[in-house]
Amino acid sequence: MSILHYFEEQKSGTLPEIYRDLTREQMETRILEIKEQLGDKLFIPGHHYQRDDVIQFADAAGDSLQLAQMCADNKEAEHIVFCGVHFMAETADILTNNQQKVYLPDMRAGCSMADMADIFQTNRAWAALENVFGETIVPLTYVNSTAAIKAFVGKNGGATVTSSNAHAMVKWAFTQKERILFLPDQHLGRNTTFDIGVPLEEMAVWDPIHDKLEYEGRLEDIQVILWKGHCSVHEGFSVQNTIDIRNEYPEMRIIVHPECPREVVALADDSGSTKNIIDIISNAAAGSQWAIGTEMNLVNRLIQAHPDKHIISLNPHMCPCLTMNRIDLPHLLWCLEGIVNGEAVNQIIVDEQTTNDAITALERMLERT
Ligand code: 13P
Ligand code: SF4
Repeated sequence: MSILHYFEEQKSGTLPEIYRDLTREQMETRILEIKEQLGDKLFIPGHHYQRDDVIQFADAAGDSLQLAQMCADNKEAEHIVFCGVHFMAETADILTNNQQKVYLPDMRAGCSMADMADIFQTNRAWAALENVFGETIVPLTYVNSTAAIKAFVGKNGGATVTSSNAHAMVKWAFTQKERILFLPDQHLGRNTTFDIGVPLEEMAVWDPIHDKLEYEGRLEDIQVILWKGHCSVHEGFSVQNTIDIRNEYPEMRIIVHPECPREVVALADDSGSTKNIIDIISNAAAGSQWAIGTEMNLVNRLIQAHPDKHIISLNPHMCPCLTMNRIDLPHLLWCLEGIVNGEAVNQIIVDEQTTNDAITALERMLERT
């Protein structure tokens, strides 16, 4: 390949061909060398859904909340190479200082759920809802959302939530206003508000495609408005999966992520964030049996880590989160070599105004967790 072609690929954010010809061993050796060379100037946070070959290089692995906290606390690293998805890297950029640079090794590593709410839809929804409910609503957004939506929420008195602090944040939100608009995951919103006592009949759904409130009762009874978004991975766990497990393994416990639909969470024995799931399985007795309803890279890692327990996926046909899987060794190495060569690629930059508003929403969450 010509040098010119190489730089064109760099600019466009496409992995240069040369990285496809390297062996796994070559890439691993080079990544280790760069980590050694950069020392504390480099920080690689990795989400639990990352592939095994990538997570082995993470300086710290965690759920969304832990990763956000680590980035907020880290003041030494000049370069933060985020092994996760786009909204996580945006959050890291918002929470770090102006001298620190955040990168996402593959810009195509998005999140289908975060893509289900854009800021234009959100502004339209807010105007329509304010028209009906006046100033009685506080917005909460799952961190699986764009920086623009976090900024919107910050500006309107709300906060971000993650799957590990959603209960506390929902309780806080009800001290602020009578109603909550919960973006963009209807399932996390429904599961959490149901747990703290909101009846399902007092939850409405906002359809952002048709700009329409879906609700059949009296509008004044609505306590929660759920954005009609979902995770395409976690919607893959069904009531039938739970029935099959109960029939085949009566002793098996079922644990799921709260992004699963309400009916599935209701039939499970427990639910929680990726960290909660890891902790519960790690502390379980040898010989115990578990069906897990979450992403497959994590489930497979738990199976490998606990040969003394019988662990399976709640859905035998589940596959990994495809966007998390975009981060692979070639992209990680490309990103790290860019840093070393002073030709950084795939930097995530959230503009100042968005950062200032989004940080308000994130800090309201971090202060309470
Ligand atoms: P956790 O915060 O539980 O790690 O979840 C993040 C996520 O994207 C789950 O799909
Ligand atoms: Fe997004 Fe679902 Fe993948 Fe999590 S598992 S990053 S919510 S698509």
